[in-house]
Amino acid sequence: MIDDFDIQAVVEALKSDKITTGERVEQFEKKVASYCGAKYAVAVSSGTAALHCAYYAAGISKGDEVITTPITFFATVSAIVMCGGTPVLADVRSDTINIDSYEIARRIRRKTKAIVPVDFASHPVSLDMIMDVARENNLVVIEDACHALGAEYRGRKIGSISDMTVFSFHPVKAICTGEGGVILTDNEEYYEKMLKFRNHNIEYGTKPWQYGIWDVGYNYRLSDIHCALGISQMDKLDSFIARRREIAKTYNEAFADVEEIITPIELDYVKSAYHLYVIQLRSMDREKFMESLASQNIGAQIHYIPIHYHPYMRMNSGYKIGDLPNSERYYSRCVSLPIFPKMTDGDVEYVIDTVKKIIGVK
Ligand SMILES: Cc1ncc(COP(=O)(O)O)c(C=O)c1O
Repeated sequence: MIDDFDIQAVVEALKSDKITTGERVEQFEKKVASYCGAKYAVAVSSGTAALHCAYYAAGISKGDEVITTPITFFATVSAIVMCGGTPVLADVRSDTINIDSYEIARRIRRKTKAIVPVDFASHPVSLDMIMDVARENNLVVIEDACHALGAEYRGRKIGSISDMTVFSFHPVKAICTGEGGVILTDNEEYYEKMLKFRNHNIEYGTKPWQYGIWDVGYNYRLSDIHCALGISQMDKLDSFIARRREIAKTYNEAFADVEEIITPIELDYVKSAYHLYVIQLRSMDREKFMESLASQNIGAQIHYIPIHYHPYMRMNSGYKIGDLPNSERYYSRCVSLPIFPKMTDGDVEYVIDTVKKIIGVK
């Protein structure tokens, strides 16, 4: 949701001396880091770039295995492949649809280098258990929190717990910079590595013209124009989340007695920022349900086609349908209903009434 303050902030950035690598980048990084309670932040051009930076900093390279979830956007996995690593999928819990810590533990081998849990729909993963498993096995935890800026786990903000935490600022996310992402960490070594990696891996010498490159890096920088928007958006993050939580509560109450619908859960020790509101249908034909919503101008989505269903994985991994039953059952019946801060109470009521009509309940 972009307002006049955001527009003004971007106009000021455009009028300033530096529209990239300027002071707004650092200001934005500091703002996100301090909101989440992390020491360091590195702003980059997308959530995918942020994942790539974090995986690189963790040292993921050819032959390394990285354990992650099948229920995520493919970028979580493609950035592993970009580093030369091999994605290993661990099934999800059937309540939160987050990666199951026991399934992670079962898949750890000598080649395992890192765990990449995803806070699906903004519901934090079981960070205590995942961090314990990682520490016991000397693994790095890179949390893909692209859905979860502002979410909390046992009273702590997401971004302050894992070794590295990745956020995305794509327009559908909690706040937006147009495109953009950030990695948070308390580890100075990771931080220094990522600063260089986002800037071609340049190492500067003692003279102004001197620089050298020891490893391939990328141009993953985020401009001051984007960061100006991010700084302005951060001021509204809490109100955006409050509105998302209000909408989720209204949906939960409206669907509580509807037998056909399984509503999303929120465990009592977390606070979700409700990036998504995903219901599951017990028996109704999902295609027909979504077509009926579309015919009433309601945009529903499916999050996500499981990772191992994609042709790339079919051709390049040994996974087959049937291997990850919780993910597959969830996928066969999930539907994401609209949830965004700009929705009016009337919009929410319209979605509820339409869903109930399609299902055939009052
Ligand atoms: C879980 C997850 N990881 C990574 C990404 C990639 O982020 P971006 O689109 O900013 O590259 C997304 C984006 O939708 C996502 O949902």
